[in-house]
Amino acid sequence: MNISNDIKYIGVNDHKIDLFEGQYIVPNGMAYNSYVILDSKIAVLDTVDYDFKDEWLDNLAKVLQGRKPDYLVVHHMECDHSSIIKEFNRLYPEATIVSTMAAFNMMKNLFGAEFNPNKLVVKEGDILSLGNNTLKFIQAPNVHWPEVMFSYDEYEKVLFSADAFGKFGANDVEDDEGWACEARRYYFGIVGRFGVNVANVLKKVSSLDIKTICPLHGPILNDNIEYYVGLYDTWSKYEPENKGVAIAYTSVYGNTKEAVLYLASKLKSLNVEVEAFDLARDDMAEAVERAFEYDRLVLATTTYNGGIFPFMDSFINTLVEHNYQNRRVAFIENGMWGPMAIKTMKLKLEGLKDITYLDSNITIKGHVNDDSKLALDKLAEELAK
Ligand code: FEO
Repeated sequence: MNISNDIKYIGVNDHKIDLFEGQYIVPNGMAYNSYVILDSKIAVLDTVDYDFKDEWLDNLAKVLQGRKPDYLVVHHMECDHSSIIKEFNRLYPEATIVSTMAAFNMMKNLFGAEFNPNKLVVKEGDILSLGNNTLKFIQAPNVHWPEVMFSYDEYEKVLFSADAFGKFGANDVEDDEGWACEARRYYFGIVGRFGVNVANVLKKVSSLDIKTICPLHGPILNDNIEYYVGLYDTWSKYEPENKGVAIAYTSVYGNTKEAVLYLASKLKSLNVEVEAFDLARDDMAEAVERAFEYDRLVLATTTYNGGIFPFMDSFINTLVEHNYQNRRVAFIENGMWGPMAIKTMKLKLEGLKDITYLDSNITIKGHVNDDSKLALDKLAEELAK
């Protein structure tokens, strides 16, 4: 695939993967992107996951047509992009590896002290000239690891954005939901904790004239660049993207679920967009994604071992780790004796920025009765405001 006359795609699609990064379901597979810039000098940009070594090296050889690469630019050292660096160096020992000092330190750990390629350490603003194409390097620490950098080809106006602007899903599968849904789940799962760092790098690239974004995962973005950058801007600032209510719940015998479904149907009757997630059965990463997408969240769970049900514990831990903030939150607890869930959930959320708690919290003692329904009606009205 050609990105431009000089920039070629040599990435691969992974349809064998069960869990990306060991935890995220990827029903449409995953793409590991890699690029080559063919100019007077040749730069290869990142490698791919080790399972695709032969396919990637074949893709590279086809594009090189007998020429030798001068550089391997390493934007990110996570293994889905870096694991073939050593093999690349064995096959093309004259090529210089270009990356940040932090990345070279990681290479030492990953490939051993004996790994000693030709090196070029780059930092913010450094330029690598390949002929017409020139790569300008932009440090992007913690988007997603500390060594990450972007690069910008001033000639082609292409931003190589490492993990940023990536999404779940292989590139040979049409994503019926459009770009944003799986890009959002990917962002809040993988990069979401580092909103400040994402905002910092967005500020740095805001002055660039970008015609194409080439991320390390997902499709190449070459139209409506403002749309993608705008979403990243919203996400990085933890601003709600859409108005609506995410309900995350656990239910052991169906009573808490009944309360949640009652609340959801009330909210719908009030024209409020609502999505409910059974944390034990639905994809938790999607529940996290929706919690960040919407401006309101309801947490509903059972009192369990004097605290809360394990799946809710894990969900709230993820929200806290990912700097959840700037939202309205309400609680529903269930407990036949000594209900403790609301107290426990509030304690866990303590310290998060700009969380507003609604007044109408609900305690159910086992079964949803008429009083519970009246309380849920009141909560729906408060949420709808
Ligand atoms: Fe796609 Fe952070 O690796």
